[in-house]
Amino acid sequence: RSRSGSGRGSARHVAVIMDGNGRWAKSRGLPRLAGHRRGAEVVRRIVEAAPDSGVSYLTLYAFSTENWKRSSEEVQGLMELFSIYIRREGKELKRRGARVRFIGDRTRLNRDLAEQMGRLEASTESNDRLNLTIAINYGGRDEILGAVRRLAAEIAAGRLAPEALDADAFSAALDTRDLPDPDLVIRTSGEMRTSNFLPWQSAYAEYAFVPETWPDFTPELFARACAAFGARNRRFGAAD
Ligand code: FPP
Repeated sequence: RSRSGSGRGSARHVAVIMDGNGRWAKSRGLPRLAGHRRGAEVVRRIVEAAPDSGVSYLTLYAFSTENWKRSSEEVQGLMELFSIYIRREGKELKRRGARVRFIGDRTRLNRDLAEQMGRLEASTESNDRLNLTIAINYGGRDEILGAVRRLAAEIAAGRLAPEALDADAFSAALDTRDLPDPDLVIRTSGEMRTSNFLPWQSAYAEYAFVPETWPDFTPELFARACAAFGARNRRFGAAD
């Protein structure tokens, strides 16, 4: 397989569903945003620690296409938090050799935030120590439908033969075109759902569901999940 890691070995691409910020806050009698703020701290720590586990692609689910249904106060607060994170961590990310990308539909985001995102992508373009991808207003079905619409238009215009549309061509039409498929998807906070996160890309991924909420997640727990992955053997449907 060209797009995925092979068999035994370490997880090259780890994707994380950062769940449980609200529960963390509620159990302490704090507003939900306090949980998100703590969550942003944990993002900083995990980004710092990921290369130590041999991870060179880290993809984080920060805001889904469904998250707009939350109160406007929470949505606003999250958007501000993304903006603050880029402002505060941008330099440090560059210093650490991180290449930052954003996936998801930016057209619905505040223009200032979208511009900040574009600038951080451009200024880290030549880095390759860690590929950090942050999903904001991302939904897997939304991404797939967008790709299908663009490919259908290509076919209708006679620029693409239907037979030429294979898995690689389809992958190349997604937001994640520059990323390998995830080897491991971690979800915190005990929920066993995949919630529209990288559904096409994770077809062969391993999943690790951990009970700790995202604000309680640590570099040690991250390293442990990666090590457990390394001990397993993936066959991609083939015989051993
Ligand atoms: C899920 O917890 C978490 C989110 C919807 C937001 C994730 C955002 C962050 C961790 C903040 C910072 C991110 C970056 C990239 C700087 P939840 O609110 O659904 O928790 P609950 O299920 O307990 O209510």
